[in-house]
Amino acid sequence: MIKFTINGRQVSSAAAEDTPLLWVIRDELGLTGTKYGCGVAACGACTVHLDGVATRSCATPLSMAEGTEITTIEALASEDHPLVRAWVAEQVAQCGYCQSGQIMQAADLLANNPSPSRDEIRSHMAGNICRCGTYPRIARAIERAAQEG
Ligand code: FES
Ligand code: FES
Repeated sequence: MIKFTINGRQVSSAAAEDTPLLWVIRDELGLTGTKYGCGVAACGACTVHLDGVATRSCATPLSMAEGTEITTIEALASEDHPLVRAWVAEQVAQCGYCQSGQIMQAADLLANNPSPSRDEIRSHMAGNICRCGTYPRIARAIERAAQEG
């Protein structure tokens, strides 16, 4: 049994230790805001925070979650996070599929660099793919959150 905290709640899973953490988050815990895109850590759609660090949950075995604190998009949405407000203000989403991963990646950036330059934003967000091409609005939303946060 693997035990961890998710969005402040103590949980456990009896799934096999090599089960992708993403499956447990979505299918066992019902937190479907975190998305499946590629399954090989190449798109960022499944990004969550593992002890505060942006992590691709599709490529993270459940065993790595033991004793950690995990945060998903549901926590940021429920706390009215500055990034969520900025995303709405900038009307970032198109289809929306990639966006929870984008916000989780951006939250990791602002936690470590509260006032990033446009180049730092581009560099930090480079691994998060958006098929709808919302990159300019993502960058503007991060800048807005940094200013208003
Ligand atoms: S689904 Fe995890 S990085 Fe693409
Ligand atoms: S908004 Fe459609 S993939 Fe990013």
